Amino acid sequence: PLRVLIDTDPGLDDAIAILYALAERRFAVEAITTVAGNIGIETTTRNGGRLLAAMGRGEIAYAAGAAGPLVAQGIDEEAIHGADGLGGVVLPEALAAPSASTATELLAPRLLAGDHGALTVLALGPLTNLAQLLRDAPRAYKRVGRIIAMGGTIFEPGNAGNYAEFNIAADPHAARMVFNAGVPVTLIPLDVTRKLRANPEDLERLAASGSVAARLSANLIGAYFADNTSRQSRPLHDPCVMLMALAPHLFGTETMRIAIDCDTQRGRLIQAPGGAAIEVAMTIDAQGALDALWAGLSG
Ligand code: BDR
Ligand code: CA
Repeated sequence: PLRVLIDTDPGLDDAIAILYALAERRFAVEAITTVAGNIGIETTTRNGGRLLAAMGRGEIAYAAGAAGPLVAQGIDEEAIHGADGLGGVVLPEALAAPSASTATELLAPRLLAGDHGALTVLALGPLTNLAQLLRDAPRAYKRVGRIIAMGGTIFEPGNAGNYAEFNIAADPHAARMVFNAGVPVTLIPLDVTRKLRANPEDLERLAASGSVAARLSANLIGAYFADNTSRQSRPLHDPCVMLMALAPHLFGTETMRIAIDCDTQRGRLIQAPGGAAIEVAMTIDAQGALDALWAGLSG
């Protein structure tokens, strides 16, 4: 199996991505670190523990990371994800308390103990925790094999202002550090994630499944619809990261040189010759990706 660390701010679509990773045997999830993003750090951490409990995976360590961006203010997303970050979906409480360590303290020894490149980071939220790992434990950071991150937009309108996507806009300084650090980054922007969509029929199909991951995902997608019942379908941003890790053939990628605006258009990606070389997903086989996601969730 692919050994992964999940860095996340659950969050409805984060939760579906995590359930998929825990249900899909081709992943070995070694730790979960949480970050403030969709909702505050206490809630994202609690949700991490609750998702592990729901899947009976209390042995996987999870730790709270950053409570806010490296510089300046976070963005409040409570309107989308609900006061508890998961739209009120019922989950058990965590089996174990979060680790007493910070995210960096949890990740650094694991990275240093393993082979170079053995661990892949699946990044589903603002990149603050990775930037802190890079700043505080650079030798450990450089042992990460690859980072696959949901974030940014190339041509699509933003969801945090006209030109920026939430995860990058929430902490553009962190994203800039991570992009420039030299560990390979594959970015999945809104241009692709908005094409992976769940509709009410998908919800019914998942709800009918015998698997816990599928039924919980149906509830999470239902909660996602609840904020706007007139919509035909809802985007599944973060699960794209997991699918990229296991099924890269579903995506078309291009290497782009990318810089990040940290000022006037906070979080905007700018293609510039001096920018970091980033592999960016620009196309997706959306039906193939949905089939793979539903199959993994249904286990
Ligand atoms: C990203 O922001 C969050 O709302 C989602 O969980 C996803 O990671 C989409 O812009
Ligand atoms: Ca997220």
